[in-house]
Amino acid sequence: MSFLVVQNLTKEYPLGLLGKEKLKAVDDVSFEIERSKIVSLIGESGSGKTTIGKLVLRLLKPTSGRIVFDGKDVFSLRKEELRDYYRRVQGVFQDPFSSFNPIYKIDRVFDMVFEEFLPEVKASERKARIEQVLVSVGLNPSQILGKYPHQLSGGQLQRILIARILLLDVELLVADEIISMLDASTRVDVLNLLGDLKKRGMSVIFITHDLSLGYYISDEALIMYRGSIVEMGDTEKVFRNPVHPYTRMLLESVPEVGKKWDLRERFTPELIGGDSASCKYYDRCPIRERHCRTAHLQMVEVEENHKVLCLKAGA
Ligand SMILES: Nc1ncnc2c1ncn2[C@@H]1O[C@H](COP(=O)(O)OP(=O)(O)O)[C@@H](O)[C@H]1O
Ligand SMILES: [Mg+2]
Repeated sequence: MSFLVVQNLTKEYPLGLLGKEKLKAVDDVSFEIERSKIVSLIGESGSGKTTIGKLVLRLLKPTSGRIVFDGKDVFSLRKEELRDYYRRVQGVFQDPFSSFNPIYKIDRVFDMVFEEFLPEVKASERKARIEQVLVSVGLNPSQILGKYPHQLSGGQLQRILIARILLLDVELLVADEIISMLDASTRVDVLNLLGDLKKRGMSVIFITHDLSLGYYISDEALIMYRGSIVEMGDTEKVFRNPVHPYTRMLLESVPEVGKKWDLRERFTPELIGGDSASCKYYDRCPIRERHCRTAHLQMVEVEENHKVLCLKAGA
């Protein structure tokens, strides 16, 4: 059994002042992650990626559905179990500046890791451990420790957050658009770092709106459209043999594999309001048929470890 299992996860946000209307940001999403795998969650802005990341990190409660980590329901964890969860599951987010308190020196980020999660490590050992993880993310400890966040670049802060993950030796990392804010030269380094984490046995949920990044880094890919996973499976299969008309459209719009392509440049489909069809892609689908409006949609396996949410898949 996979060590992270997401089952029928749904998250609705209240809309408007009275919150009577609801926005279904995540709609009946199911997937599993095995150890030492990088799974990318790919979709345009507003498709629900960050919400899934926050649910996995327990920063939000689901409207329905379950997340099971290592056999336990994540939302039933209390006290010691919850602490243990955060010892093993952590996130890094797009904007590294927001993860640091500007009034404290960088060192505090590491001190807090020891206080909260590793109290058994002796004070005399702590400095050596911090220096070791900083070096392994390509930073020079003497240029980092003692500094305030504003004295460092976004790329340096992002690496410090990854160094913190290394110090904790987490098992599952939720990495939400962590590449977007970095300049080109730092990007490759951070991607390679994620590859190193994987070799150490860590799994990563790699959230991105960049198809090429998702292709480059992940073992498995989940393609999201308006809160639903429309296609998922082995990255190579999804990219080489896309079946859902949405995935096909995305990939056809990329002139060549390897070229960066930003989904935000395209469109943000309207999530609010009633859908005219059971398939959310109905209105835009070039191969739709009348029964796509009303039929019950289910993930269909088109080949081993490659599934699609489309009535016409395999038809
Ligand atoms: N706290 C919130 N309250 C209301 N709506 C939200 C909230 N957070 C996100 N949303 C909405 O939920 C949808 C999915 O958002 P998000 O998960 O951030 O998508 P993504 O990360 O793919 O851009 C968007 O339409 C967004 O506006
Ligand atoms: Mg997001």
